[in-house]
Amino acid sequence: MPTTPQGSVPPTDVSIDVHGLTKTYGSGRGARTVRALDGLDLTAAHGSVLGLLGPNGAGKSTTVKILATLSRPDAGTARVAGHDVVADPGAVRRAIGYVAQRPVTDPMATGRENLVLAGRLQGLRAREARSRADELLERFGVAHAADRLVKTWSGGMARKLDVAVGLVHRPQVLFLDEPTTGLDPEARAAMWAEIERMALGDGMTILLTTHYLDEADRLADQVVIVDAGRVVTAGTPDALKDELRGDGVTVELDDDAAASAAVPVAARVPGVVDVTADGRTLRARADAGATALPTLLTALDAAGLGVRAAGLSRPTLDDVYLRHTGRSLEAANRAAGTATGTAGDRAGAEATEVAA
Ligand SMILES: Nc1ncnc2c1ncn2[C@@H]1O[C@H](COP(=O)(O)OP(=O)(O)O)[C@@H](O)[C@H]1O
Ligand SMILES: [Mg+2]
Repeated sequence: MPTTPQGSVPPTDVSIDVHGLTKTYGSGRGARTVRALDGLDLTAAHGSVLGLLGPNGAGKSTTVKILATLSRPDAGTARVAGHDVVADPGAVRRAIGYVAQRPVTDPMATGRENLVLAGRLQGLRAREARSRADELLERFGVAHAADRLVKTWSGGMARKLDVAVGLVHRPQVLFLDEPTTGLDPEARAAMWAEIERMALGDGMTILLTTHYLDEADRLADQVVIVDAGRVVTAGTPDALKDELRGDGVTVELDDDAAASAAVPVAARVPGVVDVTADGRTLRARADAGATALPTLLTALDAAGLGVRAAGLSRPTLDDVYLRHTGRSLEAANRAAGTATGTAGDRAGAEATEVAA
């Protein structure tokens, strides 16, 4: 029996199985080429939630589009619900629901009309499509707005409708591409509850992409951290955090230069490891944070570096990300032009290439 990249899931229970996926955009004459995927591997067990976590530009949407048969890989293999995405795209499409990063519903139609149309497109009879629409409107808590144009709905309600559209034909595997990006905290919490309910109640396999660490931590059974088209690390959120020993140490200095100057000072403090500067914040790890922190603050003071704030934290997925990539996810998103935790990138440029 072949072993899977994550080692633990026997192939028969696997809903999504990806090996060596590679994709380069702009390989035509004169175009700047971008290697969006660079040998990506991932596996999702049947009925699990796989979180694909990474900054903007990491290759998350490219992965999802290939798995949803909307784009072709240059190399590598991908099977979804037992079907090869290149050899048997029709079978894959019947098995999946796909919720794109950008909204797909018609703002000038009502919620009910959108759902009935989606049902008809999926081959449901008119009556069946109407009753499935009713069921989904009820289930996502938007029945009260069913007959209003979607353009009058809140962002959170419209996003729920996107997900409902993806569920019309009761797929075995659901792809959710950044389901909560751009939503306010309340709407995000509501969407999280829906996703948890789908995962637990319906036995669906869900692949969720996100650049929110808390979202991956909360929803995913397995997290695959991606950066620049490659898997950085993978595992359960707890296992990933357990790999990190000790406490996270954060010290905010006066400015970026002070943080850079503080790095060698901190690195000499006994028990302090993995020291990096991120803007004016110094980050490190310490086996025993409560004893290392006072020593560190004394050393910084002796070096003439003014400290504005300091703190200790238990490991988070952000620490895991930092450990494996050398930068915080927030810094990576900033570098890609989007701050973590803020709205706005949902409408960002995202070309969809439809494979012939
Ligand atoms: N259709 C396209 N044409 C050219 N470059 C693209 C296209 N789609 C994505 N890219 C590039 O591929 C990389 C990965 O993009 P994407 O998969 O959308 O990342 P993510 O969803 O993680 O933000 C980025 O550098 C992006 O600019
Ligand atoms: Mg994307």
